Amino acid sequence: MRNAAITGWGMAVPDRVLTNADLERMVETSDEWITSRTGIKERRIVGAEDSTTSLSVTAARQALDTAGLTPEDIDLIVVATCTPDQFLVSQACLVQAELGGMAGAFDLGAACSGFVYALAVGSQFVQTGLHERVMVIGVDTLTRFVDYTDRSTCILFGDGAGAVVLEATDEPRGLLSTVLGADGAGYKHLYIPGWGAFVPESAELFPEYRPYLHMNGQEVFRFAVRVMGDAAVEAVEKANLTFDDVDMMIPHQANMRIIDAAARRLALPREKVWVNLDRYGNTSAASIPIALFEAAEAGNLAEGDNVVLVAFGGGLAWAAGMVRWGTAGVCRDAECRKRAAIVPGSECVPVGQATDSESQVTKTLAGG
Ligand code: ACO
Repeated sequence: MRNAAITGWGMAVPDRVLTNADLERMVETSDEWITSRTGIKERRIVGAEDSTTSLSVTAARQALDTAGLTPEDIDLIVVATCTPDQFLVSQACLVQAELGGMAGAFDLGAACSGFVYALAVGSQFVQTGLHERVMVIGVDTLTRFVDYTDRSTCILFGDGAGAVVLEATDEPRGLLSTVLGADGAGYKHLYIPGWGAFVPESAELFPEYRPYLHMNGQEVFRFAVRVMGDAAVEAVEKANLTFDDVDMMIPHQANMRIIDAAARRLALPREKVWVNLDRYGNTSAASIPIALFEAAEAGNLAEGDNVVLVAFGGGLAWAAGMVRWGTAGVCRDAECRKRAAIVPGSECVPVGQATDSESQVTKTLAGG
């Protein structure tokens, strides 16, 4: 069976840091309250020079470098975001304009669950054989829509982007199971009104009107605790694995209490749960790929490791998946892949054991 291994990873966050101490000067709150209720200490905030595009492109270039590929090698770019720089054209086309190449490009919207949704979509294109290499990006700049006089939301969010490259392999690598769900009736608990084709009459009366994120924190909290645990368990079971097989959980970074509840459902010790929300806050669709990047770069993910991804957010939507980490069986030469499929053990050279000659193949394919 053909799978979609993760062969490249990258991330980007803005330089500007907003600490809990900064927020204490802006609204009636305290470092103690924010830390104990959420686990967040600081977050990165976009400045005038940053954009959803700039963060995405930095993360994408890094993912291509890790994979040893060029933009021309990519067949498809899927961008998960709820904060594109424009509605027309898609965020994915803006990213491609900067990156180069002629890959197909489109956006996908599932708020904070967007990256896992997009990973599922991107993996399908590889699994069906339609594409060889897909770039999946999770990016959001939600702080552009945060009301910094509202203490119940302004403490939560940060900005960032994360990207992965998917490549075909016949080994069990990449997404082994997928759980996608949504309860659209819950949309009213987390949304940004008046930023779209439906414009309320009040917008004309108040041209200065700026749409802000509205959230019913307690409802979202209750929903998150329930679905994060359920979805993570389902992802493990659908992959025909047990909790003991899980090497790492990478949860959406929204609130430490929500993460702890999900970890308890899988009976996972803290060291098997990647947490970085203390440094970035909730970066929405970027939170899982940023955490994945950090875990990989820290050397915490080994070939064959089982990694559970689980997310929730606006929609209300949720998504989870079991990823088998590593690049076993990934080969860049289409002819060589065909031979290896027919004659197991023939000279197909996996990406993880790249040689000079393989680099040459990559260069040749890229037209270099
Ligand atoms: N500082 C100090 N006090 C505060 C703050 C603050 N920043 N915010 C709220 N409070 C007060 C409230 O006014 C309330 O005071 P009261 O008791 O006098 O009325 C008290 O603290 C308790 O408020 P709660 O809302 O009950 O606090 P809770 O423990 O639920 O924590 C929080 C609030 C952190 C927002 C929590 O509900 C949460 O994390 N919910 C999930 C939100 C989330 O993850 N959203 C993102 C989804 S992802 C996406 O798609 C974008």
